[in-house]
Amino acid sequence: MNPAPVLPDGWTLVALDSVGSTNDEAARLAEAGATEGTFVWAKQQTGGRGRRGRRWASPVGNLYCSTILRPDCSAPRAAELGFVAALAVADLVQDGRAVRVKWPNDVLVDGGKVAGILPESSIGQDGHVEHVVLGIGLNVAFAPSLPEMRYPGATLGGTVGSAVEGLTAGLARWLAEWRKHGFDTIRAGWLDRAGPLGAEVDVKLGDELVRGAFAGMDREGALLLETPAGPRRIVSGELLGRAA
Ligand code: BTN
Repeated sequence: MNPAPVLPDGWTLVALDSVGSTNDEAARLAEAGATEGTFVWAKQQTGGRGRRGRRWASPVGNLYCSTILRPDCSAPRAAELGFVAALAVADLVQDGRAVRVKWPNDVLVDGGKVAGILPESSIGQDGHVEHVVLGIGLNVAFAPSLPEMRYPGATLGGTVGSAVEGLTAGLARWLAEWRKHGFDTIRAGWLDRAGPLGAEVDVKLGDELVRGAFAGMDREGALLLETPAGPRRIVSGELLGRAA
């Protein structure tokens, strides 16, 4: 039997063999009072969820986890935590492999998607965030092929246990940066790892397809594009292709 992974000080591991979705389980635990740093990890999910209502194939072999955070902030600031997660995932990639973050929260290795991130916030009536569940699916052993995937998958390699240790350490490190310095440091780290400015990208906004040159990300986490019709600021959409 493998030893339980070691988590950062103050974190709590909830290890499950199988669950519907670790995000749902973490939300349930958060509602019941679980503290920040509760890390729900399942060997497999039977109802793994991706962004935009997609499913996330979750057989044994990859990492499926959700971290409970209690950031004491407003909803727009909580959305910054998806970028915190992307940096923690990107830091796991070693051996000189090309790693790139892709707006809003994807991480690509050698051009293939290695992780998906699904942050979900619970907002109180006063607009204050009660908790955030930071869901991360990481391709450790294999890259599931999904019909809706627009580009290939990639794998991290190594073991799930070592990925748990590296990921939680990275999350703790980047969360401390976010708390101490705010979004500016996170944004700078994200832009360092993003595609080149000026790269041609397509963004799907509902039924509309916007084509433009990647012009960065602003202080609110919105994607910036230069289009033939002028600058565009995009708060919600899907970036197609690999460029940024
Ligand atoms: C994406 O669509 O890119 C986001 C995928 C997020 C998948 C992870 S796996 C762990 C957690 N539990 C879920 O049901 N989804 C997230």
